[in-house]
Amino acid sequence: MTSPWKDAVVVVSGASSGIGRELARQMAPEARALALVARRADRLEELAAELRERHPRLEVLVRPTDLTDLEACGAMIDEVKARFGRIGVLVNNAGFGDMSAFDLAPWDRLHSMIQLNVTALAYLCHRVMPDMVAMGHGGILNVSSGFGLEFMPSLATYVATKHFVTGLTESLHCEGRPLGVTVTQVCPGPVDTEFEGVMGNVTGRPPPALVRIGAVKCARQALAGFRRGRALVVPGFVIRLVMWAGAASPRWLKRLLFLPGARWMRERQLAAPRARA
Ligand SMILES: NC(=O)c1ccc[n+]([C@@H]2O[C@H](COP(=O)([O-])OP(=O)(O)OC[C@H]3O[C@@H](n4cnc5c(N)ncnc54)[C@H](OP(=O)(O)O)[C@@H]3O)[C@@H](O)[C@H]2O)c1
Repeated sequence: MTSPWKDAVVVVSGASSGIGRELARQMAPEARALALVARRADRLEELAAELRERHPRLEVLVRPTDLTDLEACGAMIDEVKARFGRIGVLVNNAGFGDMSAFDLAPWDRLHSMIQLNVTALAYLCHRVMPDMVAMGHGGILNVSSGFGLEFMPSLATYVATKHFVTGLTESLHCEGRPLGVTVTQVCPGPVDTEFEGVMGNVTGRPPPALVRIGAVKCARQALAGFRRGRALVVPGFVIRLVMWAGAASPRWLKRLLFLPGARWMRERQLAAPRARA
């Protein structure tokens, strides 16, 4: 089965860390050109040097960009196209969460999350899809979350942004398929990256080891599903079981079970307010 990224110009957002960095590493052997996008230029340069050494034929562009700025998103796409030609694969991976009772969260942080997880992701899809349709092939891999399919107190805005990603991606999957464009979403459970540190974990406890996976495995399973043209990939067997059980449970029961947790998390947050990145 041919990968959508084989000999393609690939843009990876959030390539400076975690899942995005691994996706870039694993696509590098087959891609023609990779554009690495995130804010931390030093991290991107480090990855670019590693990839150039391992894959001398690969062209790599380091493109530091704050994706919460739509003009910057547009300029990034223009630059990639001017340098390499049409974009064959877009990986929308950059994103962050914020664990906080909704009324206690700073609006600026929630707004910036919506701009990155929702607006930038939709805008980038909208910018690249016409070329893919014109070429009759191409692919978009959107990194959503298990929270794109579920809900959780103290993560309301993050959950809402990922519901957007899930709804958009599954609908685009149907639009893209007859036109030769593969649109896949990956909905991971907990992955060991910098995500939790950025989000702030008011529970004070990491997710159980049984459900956590590494970024390498997450990226590998995401790309295997993308290669097969799947609409939805949930990496990790245990989290797939958990999500299956969640989907089979009545929503009213889940809301009821979350009530004490919501109160407890709010109290913990009030007792120990945390400065967030
Ligand atoms: N780890 C998990 O448990 C988990 C679970 C489900 C879903 N996810 C999703 O997986 C995706 C990747 O997260 P991760 O786990 O790999 O976390 P991570 O290690 O924190 O990586 C997040 C990436 O997003 C980039 N980013 C953040 N703000 C940005 C901005 N304004 N402009 C451009 N890039 C920005 C970061 O780069 P800079 O800081 O250099 O800009 C970084 O490369 C996210 O969409 C997240 O929601 C993660």
